[in-house]
Parts: sequence; C-alpha cells; structure tokens
Amino acid sequence: MNVAAAIRDFSQVRLPGEGFVLRPWRLDDLDALVRHADDARIVRGLSTRFPHPYTREDGERFLAGDVVDLSDPVFAIEVDGEACGGIGAHPGRGERSHSAEFGYWLTPSLWGRGLMTKAVAVFAPWAMQSLSLHRLQAGVFAFNTASARVLQKNGFEEEGVARCAVMKFGEVHDLRVFARARRSLSDAP
Ligand SMILES: CC(C)(COP(=O)(O)OP(=O)(O)OC[C@H]1O[C@@H](n2cnc3c(N)ncnc32)[C@H](O)[C@@H]1OP(=O)(O)O)[C@@H](O)C(=O)NCCC(=O)NCCS
Repeated sequence: MNVAAAIRDFSQVRLPGEGFVLRPWRLDDLDALVRHADDARIVRGLSTRFPHPYTREDGERFLAGDVVDLSDPVFAIEVDGEACGGIGAHPGRGERSHSAEFGYWLTPSLWGRGLMTKAVAVFAPWAMQSLSLHRLQAGVFAFNTASARVLQKNGFEEEGVARCAVMKFGEVHDLRVFARARRSLSDAP
C-alpha cells in the first residue's frame, strides 16, 4: 500500500450516479459477484487476475483482499441493490504515487446502455481528487473498442500503443494507453 492510500479510508464512500451507486465491496456481495463475474465475455479484456471460470473460491479470495489491494478505491457498481460490476484504481509507489492505473468491468446483460460511461464519469474525477493524482491511466487491449469509447467519451487521451505488451490466452496483444493528466493539482481532475 502506498502512503497516499495508507492515510485514506475509502470504506464509507458511496458515489451515486444515474441508475447506480459506486461503493466498496462487501462480503455479502459474494453471490452476486460470482453470478456476474463468471462470464467469458468479461475476461477477454481483463488481466488474468480475473479468472475464468470465476468460482466461489475466486470470489472469496477477491473479497478477502487477496487478489487486489482493497484498501485502494476498488468499488462495486451496484445496480438495483446488487453488485453487477467493478471499478477501481491502484496508485503506483514511490516516484509513481502521483499516478494510478484503473480498470472496470460490467455484467454483459447491462452492456450498451451507457452505464460504464457514466460510472467512469463519476469515478475518474473523484479518484483523481481523492488520491491527489496527476495522472489516471488505463491500458486497453487493441480489440476492446467498447472500453476505448468509454474512455474517449470521458476525456481520456490516447497516448499511444504499447506493442505486444500483453499475452492473453496464448495470444500477443497490443495495449492502447489512455490517460487523463493534469500538471497541477489545482487544475480540474
Ligand atoms: C467495456 C465495458 C465496461 C463497456 O461497458 P458499457 O456499459 O457497455 O459501455 P457504454 O454503454 O457506456 O459505452 C460503450 C461504447 O462502446 C461502443 N461499443 C460497444 N461495443 C462496440 C464494438 N464492438 N465496436 C465499437 N464500439 C462498440 C458503444 O456503442 C458505446 O459507444 P457510443 O456511446 O459512442 O455508442 C464492458 O463491455 C465490459 O465490462 N467489458 C468487459 C471488461 C472490460 O473489457 N473492461 C475494460 C478493461 S480496459
């Protein structure tokens, strides 16, 4: 955990949006998490930390904080009272602690309604302010046009392509790098 995160407590955060709430994961999200996360369409664009099939044990490990650092702002996307996806940011360490990597996923039955565009619109400025970030970055697999659109619609600039950066399911992929950045913390996030 970096110093910025260490002095912050996100456990009480609730970020309301149009048709959803972003809030920390809870142990009682397990059933919903496993139901929504266990879908091959989701994992294609994500790190292998997000497995497929997604078992109950995988969900338990995630909710216990054994997969990613849950003291970072890593939130469930709650729709109609149920955790239907996730969004989170992880700040770097040392000379990179002013910068964070972020990612998100949503259950496929809710795709194409503008939900993630709205979730990122709520989360990105909040995370940049709360973590005092100069930079929020996302790496998108080249084939993942929907994710790239979500970022473009939220003012993320595409900075380039990291060629052959990731290997997923035995295939090498280019990674499109998107970021929102500000020189001064007094600039809009
Ligand atoms: C990426 C993801 C979060 C998008 O969520 P969503 O709620 O469906 O996104 P939105 O509805 O807000 O916006 C999707 C945009 O992509 C576009 N889009 C969707 N599929 C597309 C495709 N195959 N080709 C081109 N554009 C596409 C939509 O038309 C929309 O853009 P528009 O508003 O300009 O029309 C969702 O598909 C997902 O969870 N994918 C699996 C996990 C993942 O890849 N996460 C991102 C890791 S970087």
